[in-house]
Amino acid sequence: MIWRPFTQEQTAARPLKIVKGDGIWLYTEDGKRYADLISSWWVTAHGHACPKIAAAIAQQAATLEQVILTAFVHQPAENLVARLKTVLPLSLNHFFFSDNGSTAVEVALKIAYQYFKNQGEGQRKKYLHLEGAYHGDTYGAMSVSGSRSMYHFNFTDFFFETASIPVPEWYEGVEDIEAQEEHILEQVKTLLKEEGSSFCALIVEPLIQGARGMIMYRPEFLEQLVTLVRSFGILVIFDEVFTGFYRTGSCFAMDAVPTKPDLVCLSKALTGGFLPLSLTIATDAIYQAFLSDDPKKALIHGHSYTGNPIACAAACASFDLFRQPETLQKVKMVNQIHRSQTLQGVSKRRTLGLVSAFDLASPQDAKKVIEHLFERGIFMRPLGSTLYLLPPLCIKADELQWVYQELQQAIEML
Ligand SMILES: Cc1ncc(COP(=O)(O)O)c(C=O)c1O
Repeated sequence: MIWRPFTQEQTAARPLKIVKGDGIWLYTEDGKRYADLISSWWVTAHGHACPKIAAAIAQQAATLEQVILTAFVHQPAENLVARLKTVLPLSLNHFFFSDNGSTAVEVALKIAYQYFKNQGEGQRKKYLHLEGAYHGDTYGAMSVSGSRSMYHFNFTDFFFETASIPVPEWYEGVEDIEAQEEHILEQVKTLLKEEGSSFCALIVEPLIQGARGMIMYRPEFLEQLVTLVRSFGILVIFDEVFTGFYRTGSCFAMDAVPTKPDLVCLSKALTGGFLPLSLTIATDAIYQAFLSDDPKKALIHGHSYTGNPIACAAACASFDLFRQPETLQKVKMVNQIHRSQTLQGVSKRRTLGLVSAFDLASPQDAKKVIEHLFERGIFMRPLGSTLYLLPPLCIKADELQWVYQELQQAIEML
Protein backbone atom coordinates (compact mmCIF):
# COMPACT_ATOMS: atom_id res chain seq x y z
CA MET A 1 0.00 0.00 0.00
CA ILE A 2 1.14 3.51 -0.71
CA TRP A 3 1.54 5.54 2.52
CA ARG A 4 0.60 9.11 1.59
CA PRO A 5 2.24 12.30 2.95
CA PHE A 6 0.32 14.63 5.33
CA THR A 7 -2.55 12.12 5.44
CA GLN A 8 -4.38 10.40 8.29
CA GLU A 9 -4.86 7.17 6.37
CA GLN A 10 -7.60 5.90 8.70
CA THR A 11 -10.03 8.71 7.92
CA ALA A 12 -8.93 10.17 4.59
CA ALA A 13 -10.81 9.44 1.37
CA ARG A 14 -9.24 6.96 -1.01
CA PRO A 15 -7.04 8.63 -3.62
CA LEU A 16 -8.19 8.94 -7.23
CA LYS A 17 -5.92 7.43 -9.83
CA ILE A 18 -4.59 10.08 -12.22
CA VAL A 19 -3.60 8.71 -15.59
CA LYS A 20 -2.79 11.85 -17.53
CA GLY A 21 -2.00 15.53 -17.09
CA ASP A 22 -2.38 18.27 -19.70
CA GLY A 23 -1.98 21.98 -18.95
CA ILE A 24 -4.07 22.85 -15.89
CA TRP A 25 -5.97 19.54 -16.14
CA LEU A 26 -5.53 16.22 -14.35
CA TYR A 27 -7.44 13.24 -15.82
CA THR A 28 -8.63 10.23 -13.80
CA GLU A 29 -8.83 6.65 -15.01
CA ASP A 30 -12.62 6.93 -15.32
CA GLY A 31 -12.40 9.96 -17.59
CA LYS A 32 -13.11 12.80 -15.12
CA ARG A 33 -10.92 15.88 -15.12
CA TYR A 34 -9.85 18.31 -12.40
CA ALA A 35 -8.34 21.79 -12.78
CA ASP A 36 -5.19 21.91 -10.65
CA LEU A 37 -5.44 25.29 -8.91
CA ILE A 38 -2.50 24.72 -6.57
CA SER A 39 0.02 23.66 -9.23
CA SER A 40 0.37 20.25 -7.54
CA TRP A 41 1.85 21.53 -4.32
CA TRP A 42 3.39 24.57 -6.00
CA VAL A 43 5.68 22.80 -8.44
CA THR A 44 3.81 22.61 -11.77
CA ALA A 45 4.75 26.01 -13.14
CA HIS A 46 3.96 25.82 -16.85
CA GLY A 47 1.24 23.16 -16.75
CA HIS A 48 1.15 19.37 -16.63
CA ALA A 49 3.07 17.35 -19.24
CA CYS A 50 4.54 20.50 -20.79
CA PRO A 51 5.89 19.19 -24.15
CA LYS A 52 9.11 21.28 -24.22
CA ILE A 53 10.25 20.03 -20.81
CA ALA A 54 9.21 16.46 -21.61
CA ALA A 55 11.30 16.57 -24.80
CA ALA A 56 14.36 17.96 -22.98
CA ILE A 57 14.08 15.15 -20.42
CA ALA A 58 13.79 12.45 -23.09
CA GLN A 59 16.80 13.78 -24.93
CA GLN A 60 18.95 14.01 -21.81
CA ALA A 61 17.88 10.55 -20.56
CA ALA A 62 19.12 9.04 -23.81
CA THR A 63 22.45 10.91 -23.55
CA LEU A 64 23.60 10.85 -19.90
CA GLU A 65 21.20 9.87 -17.14
CA GLN A 66 23.39 10.29 -14.05
CA VAL A 67 26.99 10.78 -13.00
CA ILE A 68 28.57 11.49 -9.62
CA LEU A 69 29.21 15.22 -9.27
CA THR A 70 32.63 15.03 -7.61
CA ALA A 71 35.33 14.01 -10.10
CA PHE A 72 32.90 14.86 -12.89
CA VAL A 73 30.74 17.72 -14.00
CA HIS A 74 28.27 17.77 -16.90
CA GLN A 75 26.80 20.16 -19.45
CA PRO A 76 23.21 20.34 -18.11
CA ALA A 77 24.46 21.46 -14.67
CA GLU A 78 26.75 24.05 -16.24
CA ASN A 79 23.96 25.24 -18.52
CA LEU A 80 21.59 25.63 -15.58
CA VAL A 81 24.11 27.59 -13.51
CA ALA A 82 24.83 29.88 -16.48
CA ARG A 83 21.12 30.53 -16.95
CA LEU A 84 20.43 31.22 -13.28
CA LYS A 85 23.36 33.64 -13.10
CA THR A 86 21.55 35.87 -15.60
CA VAL A 87 18.66 36.42 -13.14
CA LEU A 88 20.36 36.23 -9.74
CA PRO A 89 22.28 39.06 -8.05
CA LEU A 90 25.95 38.93 -9.06
CA SER A 91 26.89 38.30 -5.41
CA LEU A 92 25.21 34.86 -5.42
CA ASN A 93 27.57 32.77 -7.48
CA HIS A 94 28.29 29.37 -5.88
CA PHE A 95 25.73 26.68 -6.63
CA PHE A 96 25.31 23.58 -4.44
CA PHE A 97 22.87 20.97 -5.77
CA SER A 98 20.53 18.70 -3.81
CA ASP A 99 17.14 17.10 -4.45
CA ASN A 100 14.27 18.92 -2.73
CA GLY A 101 13.31 22.02 -0.78
CA SER A 102 14.04 20.55 2.64
CA THR A 103 17.56 19.48 1.68
CA ALA A 104 18.25 22.87 0.10
CA VAL A 105 17.36 24.37 3.49
CA GLU A 106 19.43 21.81 5.45
CA VAL A 107 22.43 22.67 3.30
CA ALA A 108 21.92 26.41 3.85
CA LEU A 109 21.65 25.92 7.63
CA LYS A 110 24.78 23.77 7.71
CA ILE A 111 26.71 26.20 5.53
CA ALA A 112 25.75 29.14 7.78
CA TYR A 113 26.91 27.40 10.95
CA GLN A 114 30.09 26.00 9.43
CA TYR A 115 30.94 29.34 7.81
CA PHE A 116 31.40 30.76 11.30
CA LYS A 117 32.91 27.58 12.79
CA ASN A 118 35.59 27.48 10.09
CA GLN A 119 36.55 30.99 11.17
CA GLY A 120 36.70 30.21 14.90
CA GLU A 121 33.20 31.46 15.75
CA GLY A 122 31.57 28.11 16.61
CA GLN A 123 29.56 29.78 19.38
CA ARG A 124 27.13 31.08 16.72
CA LYS A 125 24.84 28.06 17.05
CA LYS A 126 21.38 29.63 16.98
CA TYR A 127 19.08 30.59 14.12
CA LEU A 128 16.47 33.30 13.77
CA HIS A 129 13.28 32.52 11.87
CA LEU A 130 9.80 33.92 11.32
CA GLU A 131 6.94 32.73 13.50
CA GLY A 132 4.97 29.86 11.97
CA ALA A 133 7.58 29.35 9.26
CA TYR A 134 7.67 26.26 7.06
CA HIS A 135 11.02 25.25 5.60
CA GLY A 136 10.54 21.51 5.14
CA ASP A 137 10.26 18.28 7.08
CA THR A 138 13.84 17.26 7.86
CA TYR A 139 15.13 17.97 11.37
CA GLY A 140 17.05 21.15 10.62
CA ALA A 141 14.24 22.55 8.48
CA MET A 142 11.72 21.63 11.20
CA SER A 143 13.82 23.31 13.90
CA VAL A 144 13.71 26.65 12.09
CA SER A 145 9.92 26.44 11.98
CA GLY A 146 9.88 26.93 15.73
CA SER A 147 8.41 24.93 18.59
CA ARG A 148 4.85 26.17 17.88
CA SER A 149 4.86 24.90 14.31
CA MET A 150 1.52 23.52 13.18
CA TYR A 151 3.30 20.80 11.19
CA HIS A 152 6.10 19.58 13.43
CA PHE A 153 4.60 19.38 16.95
CA ASN A 154 5.46 15.66 17.27
CA PHE A 155 9.19 16.31 17.04
CA THR A 156 9.83 19.50 18.99
CA ASP A 157 11.87 17.61 21.65
CA PHE A 158 14.62 17.26 19.07
CA PHE A 159 14.74 20.82 17.73
CA PHE A 160 17.86 22.92 18.09
CA GLU A 161 17.77 26.37 19.63
CA THR A 162 16.18 29.19 17.65
CA ALA A 163 14.44 32.51 18.18
CA SER A 164 11.14 33.32 16.54
CA ILE A 165 10.23 36.69 15.02
CA PRO A 166 6.53 37.68 14.79
CA VAL A 167 5.25 38.44 11.29
CA PRO A 168 3.42 41.73 10.55
CA GLU A 169 0.71 40.19 8.38
CA TRP A 170 -0.34 42.25 5.38
CA TYR A 171 -3.80 41.89 3.82
CA GLU A 172 -6.36 44.20 2.20
CA GLY A 173 -7.57 46.74 4.72
CA VAL A 174 -4.98 45.94 7.41
CA GLU A 175 -4.46 48.83 9.83
CA ASP A 176 -1.35 50.22 11.50
CA ILE A 177 1.00 48.00 9.56
CA GLU A 178 3.97 50.38 9.90
CA ALA A 179 3.50 50.55 13.67
CA GLN A 180 3.37 46.75 13.90
CA GLU A 181 6.51 46.43 11.82
CA GLU A 182 8.33 49.00 13.90
CA HIS A 183 7.36 47.26 17.13
CA ILE A 184 8.63 43.88 15.89
CA LEU A 185 11.89 45.39 14.66
CA GLU A 186 12.42 46.98 18.07
CA GLN A 187 11.90 43.56 19.71
CA VAL A 188 14.45 41.99 17.36
CA LYS A 189 16.91 44.79 18.05
CA THR A 190 16.62 44.25 21.81
CA LEU A 191 17.18 40.51 21.41
CA LEU A 192 20.19 40.99 19.19
CA LYS A 193 21.77 43.56 21.50
CA GLU A 194 21.76 40.86 24.18
CA GLU A 195 22.46 37.72 22.17
CA GLY A 196 23.44 38.81 18.64
CA SER A 197 26.80 37.00 18.66
CA SER A 198 25.14 33.63 19.36
CA PHE A 199 23.19 33.60 16.07
CA CYS A 200 24.66 32.39 12.78
CA ALA A 201 21.72 33.05 10.44
CA LEU A 202 18.26 34.41 9.87
CA ILE A 203 16.12 32.28 7.56
CA VAL A 204 12.94 33.64 5.97
CA GLU A 205 10.42 32.79 3.29
CA PRO A 206 10.59 36.20 1.60
CA LEU A 207 7.26 38.09 1.25
CA ILE A 208 4.95 35.03 1.55
CA GLN A 209 4.88 32.34 4.21
CA GLY A 210 3.36 29.62 2.03
CA ALA A 211 2.50 26.59 4.16
CA ARG A 212 1.62 28.71 7.19
CA GLY A 213 -1.37 29.94 5.21
CA MET A 214 -0.13 32.26 2.45
CA ILE A 215 0.69 34.90 5.04
CA MET A 216 2.08 37.97 3.27
CA TYR A 217 4.28 40.72 4.63
CA ARG A 218 5.68 43.87 3.06
CA PRO A 219 9.07 44.18 1.34
CA GLU A 220 9.69 47.26 3.52
CA PHE A 221 9.67 45.02 6.62
CA LEU A 222 11.87 42.40 4.98
CA GLU A 223 14.42 45.03 3.97
CA GLN A 224 14.60 46.51 7.47
CA LEU A 225 14.82 43.09 9.11
CA VAL A 226 17.62 41.97 6.83
CA THR A 227 19.56 45.19 7.35
CA LEU A 228 19.14 44.92 11.11
CA VAL A 229 20.36 41.35 11.50
CA ARG A 230 23.23 42.03 9.09
CA SER A 231 24.42 44.83 11.38
CA PHE A 232 25.02 42.09 14.01
CA GLY A 233 27.16 40.05 11.59
CA ILE A 234 24.41 37.44 11.09
CA LEU A 235 24.00 35.72 7.70
CA VAL A 236 20.70 35.93 5.83
CA ILE A 237 19.08 32.94 4.10
CA PHE A 238 16.15 33.47 1.72
CA ASP A 239 14.17 30.26 1.30
CA GLU A 240 12.73 30.86 -2.18
CA VAL A 241 11.65 27.23 -2.56
CA PHE A 242 8.05 28.41 -2.86
CA THR A 243 8.45 32.04 -3.96
CA GLY A 244 11.04 31.44 -6.70
CA PHE A 245 10.16 31.69 -10.39
CA TYR A 246 7.49 34.39 -10.69
CA ARG A 247 5.24 33.36 -7.78
CA THR A 248 5.44 36.88 -6.34
CA GLY A 249 5.34 38.65 -9.71
CA SER A 250 9.06 38.98 -10.40
CA CYS A 251 11.54 36.17 -11.00
CA PHE A 252 12.41 35.99 -7.29
CA ALA A 253 10.84 37.55 -4.19
CA MET A 254 14.25 39.01 -3.38
CA ASP A 255 13.92 41.24 -6.46
CA ALA A 256 11.57 43.38 -4.34
CA VAL A 257 14.26 44.36 -1.83
CA PRO A 258 17.57 46.18 -2.37
CA THR A 259 19.58 44.17 0.18
CA LYS A 260 20.30 40.68 -1.07
CA PRO A 261 20.71 37.52 1.02
CA ASP A 262 23.92 35.55 1.62
CA LEU A 263 22.28 32.23 0.79
CA VAL A 264 19.26 31.34 -1.34
CA CYS A 265 17.34 28.04 -1.56
CA LEU A 266 15.54 27.10 -4.79
CA SER A 267 13.46 24.04 -5.67
CA LYS A 268 9.78 23.33 -6.54
CA ALA A 269 9.25 25.30 -9.82
CA LEU A 270 12.97 24.97 -10.67
CA THR A 271 12.26 22.01 -13.00
CA GLY A 272 8.77 23.25 -13.88
CA GLY A 273 7.42 20.51 -11.62
CA PHE A 274 8.90 17.58 -13.55
CA LEU A 275 11.71 16.25 -11.38
CA PRO A 276 13.08 16.76 -7.86
CA LEU A 277 16.02 19.16 -7.87
CA SER A 278 17.19 21.96 -5.62
CA LEU A 279 19.95 24.47 -5.19
CA THR A 280 21.53 26.29 -2.30
CA ILE A 281 23.31 29.31 -3.72
CA ALA A 282 25.99 31.14 -1.73
CA THR A 283 28.11 34.26 -2.01
CA ASP A 284 31.80 34.22 -2.73
CA ALA A 285 32.62 35.28 0.85
CA ILE A 286 30.85 32.17 2.16
CA TYR A 287 32.50 29.86 -0.36
CA GLN A 288 35.94 31.24 0.51
CA ALA A 289 35.46 30.32 4.18
CA PHE A 290 35.35 26.63 3.20
CA LEU A 291 38.67 26.71 1.29
CA SER A 292 41.54 25.33 3.36
CA ASP A 293 44.34 22.75 3.49
CA ASP A 294 42.25 21.13 6.19
CA PRO A 295 39.78 18.62 4.64
CA LYS A 296 37.47 19.04 7.64
CA LYS A 297 36.75 22.61 6.58
CA ALA A 298 35.09 21.40 3.36
CA LEU A 299 31.30 21.18 3.09
CA ILE A 300 30.93 17.47 3.79
CA HIS A 301 27.40 16.98 2.52
CA GLY A 302 25.93 15.28 -0.55
CA HIS A 303 23.17 13.09 -1.97
CA SER A 304 23.18 10.18 -4.41
CA TYR A 305 21.38 12.19 -7.08
CA THR A 306 23.17 15.49 -6.51
CA GLY A 307 22.89 17.56 -9.70
CA ASN A 308 21.16 14.83 -11.71
CA PRO A 309 21.64 15.62 -15.44
CA ILE A 310 18.04 14.83 -16.43
CA ALA A 311 16.67 17.11 -13.70
CA CYS A 312 19.13 19.84 -14.75
CA ALA A 313 18.00 19.50 -18.39
CA ALA A 314 14.38 19.83 -17.24
CA ALA A 315 15.32 22.93 -15.22
CA CYS A 316 17.03 24.51 -18.26
CA ALA A 317 13.96 23.90 -20.42
CA SER A 318 11.72 25.29 -17.69
CA PHE A 319 13.97 28.34 -17.30
CA ASP A 320 13.81 29.06 -21.05
CA LEU A 321 10.01 28.99 -20.86
CA PHE A 322 10.03 31.33 -17.86
CA ARG A 323 12.24 33.81 -19.67
CA GLN A 324 9.88 34.20 -22.64
CA PRO A 325 8.29 37.67 -22.72
CA GLU A 326 4.82 36.06 -22.37
CA THR A 327 5.57 34.99 -18.79
CA LEU A 328 5.24 38.47 -17.34
CA GLN A 329 2.06 39.04 -19.35
CA LYS A 330 0.59 35.80 -17.99
CA VAL A 331 1.53 36.70 -14.40
CA LYS A 332 -0.10 40.10 -14.92
CA MET A 333 -3.27 38.56 -16.35
CA VAL A 334 -3.60 36.11 -13.44
CA ASN A 335 -2.89 38.87 -10.92
CA GLN A 336 -5.49 41.19 -12.49
CA ILE A 337 -8.16 38.49 -12.30
CA HIS A 338 -7.22 37.74 -8.68
CA ARG A 339 -7.65 41.42 -7.86
CA SER A 340 -10.78 42.12 -9.86
CA GLN A 341 -12.97 39.20 -8.71
CA THR A 342 -15.18 40.08 -5.78
CA LEU A 343 -15.68 37.36 -3.18
CA GLN A 344 -18.38 37.80 -0.55
CA GLY A 345 -18.08 36.12 2.83
CA VAL A 346 -14.29 35.95 3.07
CA SER A 347 -11.77 37.90 5.13
CA LYS A 348 -8.10 38.96 4.96
CA ARG A 349 -7.89 38.93 1.18
CA ARG A 350 -4.31 39.05 -0.01
CA THR A 351 -2.80 38.85 -3.47
CA LEU A 352 0.75 38.89 -4.76
CA GLY A 353 1.84 37.83 -8.24
CA LEU A 354 0.26 34.47 -9.03
CA VAL A 355 -0.96 33.89 -5.48
CA SER A 356 -4.33 34.86 -4.09
CA ALA A 357 -5.51 33.85 -0.60
CA PHE A 358 -8.32 34.62 1.83
CA ASP A 359 -9.74 33.21 5.05
CA LEU A 360 -13.05 31.56 5.84
CA ALA A 361 -14.59 31.42 9.31
CA SER A 362 -13.15 27.99 10.20
CA PRO A 363 -11.12 25.05 8.87
CA GLN A 364 -14.43 23.12 8.62
CA ASP A 365 -15.84 25.77 6.26
CA ALA A 366 -12.67 25.67 4.17
CA LYS A 367 -12.95 21.88 3.93
CA LYS A 368 -16.61 22.09 2.85
CA VAL A 369 -15.79 24.58 0.10
CA ILE A 370 -12.92 22.42 -1.15
CA GLU A 371 -15.12 19.33 -1.24
CA HIS A 372 -17.81 21.17 -3.19
CA LEU A 373 -15.25 22.49 -5.67
CA PHE A 374 -13.82 19.00 -6.12
CA GLU A 375 -17.24 17.77 -7.19
CA ARG A 376 -17.27 20.60 -9.72
CA GLY A 377 -13.87 19.57 -11.14
CA ILE A 378 -11.58 21.99 -9.30
CA PHE A 379 -8.73 20.78 -7.11
CA MET A 380 -7.59 23.00 -4.22
CA ARG A 381 -6.26 22.29 -0.71
CA PRO A 382 -7.00 24.33 2.42
CA LEU A 383 -4.37 25.57 4.86
CA GLY A 384 -6.43 25.65 8.05
CA SER A 385 -9.14 28.27 7.45
CA THR A 386 -7.24 29.68 4.48
CA LEU A 387 -7.99 28.95 0.84
CA TYR A 388 -5.63 30.00 -1.90
CA LEU A 389 -5.26 29.89 -5.65
CA LEU A 390 -1.92 29.36 -7.34
CA PRO A 391 -2.61 28.25 -10.92
CA PRO A 392 0.00 27.09 -13.43
CA LEU A 393 1.04 29.84 -15.86
CA CYS A 394 -0.83 28.19 -18.73
CA ILE A 395 -4.25 28.92 -17.21
CA LYS A 396 -6.54 30.95 -19.48
CA ALA A 397 -8.49 34.01 -18.32
CA ASP A 398 -11.88 32.33 -18.79
CA GLU A 399 -10.75 29.24 -16.87
CA LEU A 400 -9.66 31.34 -13.88
CA GLN A 401 -12.89 33.38 -14.01
CA TRP A 402 -14.87 30.12 -14.01
CA VAL A 403 -12.95 28.99 -10.89
CA TYR A 404 -13.89 32.24 -9.12
CA GLN A 405 -17.57 31.80 -10.03
CA GLU A 406 -17.56 28.26 -8.66
CA LEU A 407 -15.72 29.45 -5.58
CA GLN A 408 -18.29 32.16 -4.87
CA GLN A 409 -21.14 29.67 -5.28
CA ALA A 410 -19.44 27.18 -2.94
CA ILE A 411 -18.94 29.91 -0.30
CA GLU A 412 -22.58 30.99 -0.60
CA MET A 413 -23.68 27.41 0.11
CA LEU A 414 -21.98 27.39 3.55
C1 LIG B 1 9.33 27.68 1.67
C2 LIG B 1 9.53 26.19 1.63
N1 LIG B 1 10.72 25.68 1.94
C3 LIG B 1 10.97 24.37 1.90
C4 LIG B 1 9.98 23.48 1.55
C5 LIG B 1 10.25 22.02 1.53
O1 LIG B 1 10.34 21.56 0.22
P1 LIG B 1 10.17 20.01 -0.10
O2 LIG B 1 8.75 19.66 0.15
O3 LIG B 1 10.57 19.90 -1.55
O4 LIG B 1 11.12 19.28 0.79
C6 LIG B 1 8.72 23.96 1.22
C7 LIG B 1 7.63 23.05 0.85
O5 LIG B 1 6.48 23.38 0.75
C8 LIG B 1 8.48 25.36 1.27
O6 LIG B 1 7.28 25.88 0.98
